[in-house]
Amino acid sequence: MNTEHNANHGATADGSPKSKCPFSGAGAAKPTTDVDLLTREMILDPFPWLATVRKEQPVVYLEKHDLWLVSRHEDVMSVYKDMETFSSANAHQAQYDIPPSIVAEAGPDWRLPVDHLLNSTDPPEHMPLKRILVQKFHSILEGMDEWAIPLANRHIDKMVPNGKADLVAEFTWPFVIDVFARLLGIPAEQTGRFRAFAEGWFELTGSSSLPEDRIEAAFRNFLFFERFLTRVVAERRQNPQPDFPTLLISSQAAGAKLSDRQILTNLIGFVVAGTDTTANSIAQVIYALITNPQVLARIMSDPSLIPTVIEEAMRLRCPVRGMVRVTTRETTLGGVTIPKGANVYVHIASGSRDGDKFDHPDQLDPDRANVTRHLAFGAFGRVCLGAPLARKELSIAVNLLTQRLPNLRLAVTQGELQYTQSIIIPSLRDLRIEFDPIADAAPKASSPQAA
Ligand code: HEM
Repeated sequence: MNTEHNANHGATADGSPKSKCPFSGAGAAKPTTDVDLLTREMILDPFPWLATVRKEQPVVYLEKHDLWLVSRHEDVMSVYKDMETFSSANAHQAQYDIPPSIVAEAGPDWRLPVDHLLNSTDPPEHMPLKRILVQKFHSILEGMDEWAIPLANRHIDKMVPNGKADLVAEFTWPFVIDVFARLLGIPAEQTGRFRAFAEGWFELTGSSSLPEDRIEAAFRNFLFFERFLTRVVAERRQNPQPDFPTLLISSQAAGAKLSDRQILTNLIGFVVAGTDTTANSIAQVIYALITNPQVLARIMSDPSLIPTVIEEAMRLRCPVRGMVRVTTRETTLGGVTIPKGANVYVHIASGSRDGDKFDHPDQLDPDRANVTRHLAFGAFGRVCLGAPLARKELSIAVNLLTQRLPNLRLAVTQGELQYTQSIIIPSLRDLRIEFDPIADAAPKASSPQAA
């Protein structure tokens, strides 16, 4: 098991060969830094360092992580545009070998269920699969306000009389999990491990310094989830329900080119891609609003601004910081030659704060004209499949929380925030807030604006 600090993207947990650092023993011409992106300071606020990097070494090799960091908006877009050169095949590989206890339980042939996962497939498999998933997924979101607003209000009802809450434990995760339970047709009492599963995934794939017990727990959750969703799919084949697994199964039966394995791994992938991301986004957007009280006041007096402000807060606090690619050929980016087989860390949070693209990039500006150019949901062919759902959940959350929690304020300083350990999604573990308590917890009748 590799628990050393120098990351080894390309480990064997999914069965593919380990890739070696492309520069071990190579000459000194490459732009290199020994910065560690997993220190507490860097997880909390990497942006001052990134601003310098964008100016001085926009494409730089990170020795400690064996990754080529791409930091400018323009270069990030180039990576997204060229899916042939920048493959996603290693985007979701664990950085650790499978622990012996898991091998003993699952058998020597067990691999992480990431094969045929949309997020890590490349052309030509990628787009035909994406078309089917997009069509089915978006169709199931119709009329979502009707059932999702009451789900959100149920959690806020419990918070309202208390005057304080941990927004992450009491709202963002419970709400996002409720939404997913509904989409997957799973009873709420069977969702207890969703959070640990999704957070564990991004730690396993986005950190090389996890303690052994966390590595073991994360792999165990993978195994549990694969078995759990295998049972769900088998059940739906027997007994169709108005849910997403049934939609995929019925489209397969109707002739869509969708294998059994694609159904299973993409259902697993949706829980991963759609929960930690959205829970963290809601927390980050609320954090951005509370720390910019003049913007908060503006949206409270004019809620029609909320969709734009959400986009701007996503730009500023990009909940997904970056993604990993592997080069399929030697290539040049930002004037730097990257060899074939190199691991590339495409920093979407840095690109979204690039001063060449956005004026006063470190400010939350509700009037920003080009706000939609942010990269928080990826770009081009890899643009987030779940963005319509995420935007809807964010809109519901921001509307209701700002309407129903008067005098919303933080009960922590930025320095006290705790994050999960990942360069992909460092996720807020908690967000302590305070507000004026209200004895009558009845939800307001008004409906959130669509994002
Ligand atoms: C606010 C919440 C979310 C954020 C910030 C987010 C962000 C992203 C980003 C940055 C990518 C590009 C990944 C890459 O470059 O490899 C992506 C892709 C993806 N996201 Fe999301 N996501 C969110 C919510 C969701 C939800 C709710 C779902 C599904 C239910 C979802 C499913 C996916 C899938 C399947 C892809 C892969 C697309 C492809 O490779 O073509 N995401 N997301």
